[in-house]
Amino acid sequence: MTKVSGIRLAKRLDEVGFSDIVQIRNKVMALRAEGLEVHALHGGEPYFETPEDIKYAAIQALVENQTHYAASSGVLPLRKALVEKLARKNNLQVTTDEVIATVGGSQGLYAAFQSVLDPGDDALVFSPYWTPIGDLVTGAQARPLLVPTATARRNGIRKTLEQFSTPKTRVVYYNTPQNPSGLVFTRAEAEEVAAFAIERDLVVIADEAYEDLVYDGEHVSLASLPGMSERTITSYTFSKSYAMTGWRAGYAVAKEPFMTALRKIVLYSTNGVSTPVQYAMIQALKTPESQIAAYREEYRKRRDLLVAALNEVGLECEPPAGAFYAFPNAEKINKNSRTASQILLEKAHIATIPGSVFGAQGEGHLRFGYAITIPEIEACVEALRKFFA
Ligand SMILES: Cc1ncc(COP(=O)(O)O)c(C=O)c1O
Repeated sequence: MTKVSGIRLAKRLDEVGFSDIVQIRNKVMALRAEGLEVHALHGGEPYFETPEDIKYAAIQALVENQTHYAASSGVLPLRKALVEKLARKNNLQVTTDEVIATVGGSQGLYAAFQSVLDPGDDALVFSPYWTPIGDLVTGAQARPLLVPTATARRNGIRKTLEQFSTPKTRVVYYNTPQNPSGLVFTRAEAEEVAAFAIERDLVVIADEAYEDLVYDGEHVSLASLPGMSERTITSYTFSKSYAMTGWRAGYAVAKEPFMTALRKIVLYSTNGVSTPVQYAMIQALKTPESQIAAYREEYRKRRDLLVAALNEVGLECEPPAGAFYAFPNAEKINKNSRTASQILLEKAHIATIPGSVFGAQGEGHLRFGYAITIPEIEACVEALRKFFA
């Protein structure tokens, strides 16, 4: 008789995937180990290093022994600086009790979904979507309902959300500027999402990771719209705006009852953000807007260079209005985006992410991340031209 082992994983993890993007990163590393030059457009990391003043703020905090337990929601000077930034940039009037420091945007999003979803609930997710979101929803034993963004924009956002909604829908995940498409929702579209959420009494989880990277149009924080601050949990990160991906620095904004839940989840998962990192965050928030605008212009140059080349070789691509990804149609290479990505990697040594990784609505596309240096983009453009010649 075979003995059944009591050692097994919690069932709620059964449906939770592990990043495909990591597998592509491993393949790139293997090719590089063979001595091949690989054009790395699969990533999503700023091309520049964390600015010196931010690094020195962390060093200074260490030297001054800011190395002890801090308030798990974040030290008061940080929460004050966040309140000031949210009023100035996002048109959000909040108190220091309505912000919480998180370990990257990732922890804010994890905490947000865990705070509001019960097993069996549904969450509306505009698709294509940033892959971890599907896993964060299923990890809460809920179901992501994929709403095709292109259809929604064509037929009306509110009407499409209504179409895909179920009686079990509790949440809308709203990401602008979007990863992977680079799309930026307009103010009118944001108002439609808001009207729908209010009408159905839903919570919105707003992901504003790329708030500083809008080239065309404006960034509208959903929580700033009338009636939305009390039903929105907004997640922000320092990763993209300040080149701080490895610091794991972010924050979430919400009113009660959400903040009590976010605090519990942060307390029992990490007990807050590393104390010296919080001082680096304070320094980052002092970055002049002119500097943030200068970074944005650098990204715009990269976008224009890459998008022109993609269209030139027949990979049709609208200039993305925000973030740092281009998401062209790649059916010219292969209808299956996994195959297309593999061909491009093996034949042209260009690493991209297959669109299907971002939901069925991403199929037929490839994601090219252009947060790299201009020479790296030029080398990729050269490789693309050669491949299609
Ligand atoms: C849409 C979106 N949200 C959130 C994040 C979270 O970033 P982090 O955990 O580095 O703050 C990312 C990172 O790629 C992202 O693309």
